[in-house]
Amino acid sequence: MKKLKNWDNKTWLSSKSYISQFNKFLKTKINFNKDSKILDIGCGRANIISALQQKYKFRNKPIGIDIVSNKGVKKNIIFKRVEALKYLKKKEKYDLIIIKQTIHFFSKTNLNRLLNLAKRSLNTKGKILIFSLKTKNNKIPCFEKMRKSLKKSLKRDEYLFKIIKKNLKKTKNSYFNFNVTISKKRYLWMIKSRYISCLLDLNDKDINNGLNEIELKYNNTIKFIDTLKCISFSK
Ligand SMILES: C[S@@+](CC[C@H](N)C(=O)[O-])C[C@H]1O[C@@H](n2cnc3c(N)ncnc32)[C@H](O)[C@@H]1O
Repeated sequence: MKKLKNWDNKTWLSSKSYISQFNKFLKTKINFNKDSKILDIGCGRANIISALQQKYKFRNKPIGIDIVSNKGVKKNIIFKRVEALKYLKKKEKYDLIIIKQTIHFFSKTNLNRLLNLAKRSLNTKGKILIFSLKTKNNKIPCFEKMRKSLKKSLKRDEYLFKIIKKNLKKTKNSYFNFNVTISKKRYLWMIKSRYISCLLDLNDKDINNGLNEIELKYNNTIKFIDTLKCISFSK
């Protein structure tokens, strides 16, 4: 798969309001304290763990790993450019492992490997939190080809959820909702930057046609709810 680079590059996913609401959601799942050890797998620019570090001033800086080293990765955390399976073989232990919007990059075999290694890397009361786009009735604004590609990817996500359930067994599901308000101009830029995996394999012509379609279909301000499913596993 081609590499995703503009996911959180000045989008709602890196906005103060998103990060703050997301971290409030995390707080409902985890009792953070100064000694909490956190690993974010597929951290992107590490906005989430950076904000957590700012708030809680952990003794051990949170660790964020990603196969891409993006421009603008946050500096108050430890970032490592490394593949997740390789990193988890280090046998370090964490209280929280976040895997946000990243499972779709893994094959079935590698997802099982990832989960096994993540379980092994948890402290006694540790938690794994997996976040992924809601698969049913998803509200992400799309053009036709993008919608088709997203549908296919969400169908695969449902299959990945089954693998997760089978592997982790005692999981709990919940949902994180964020009200997005974005100018059409900015959203067109995001599409042009192929901000979401389902755009990576479309060719330039598809993208250009898609931009025209969005231009016609949406008002100058686009509003929708971005919903993530959260799968929580505790030891
Ligand atoms: C959609 S982005 C999500 C970024 C961030 N977690 C967020 O929610 O804003 C997925 C990230 O996973 C990373 N990634 C994909 N496969 C990976 C792997 N095997 N090991 C580490 N990172 C990976 C990608 O490079 C990308 O930055």
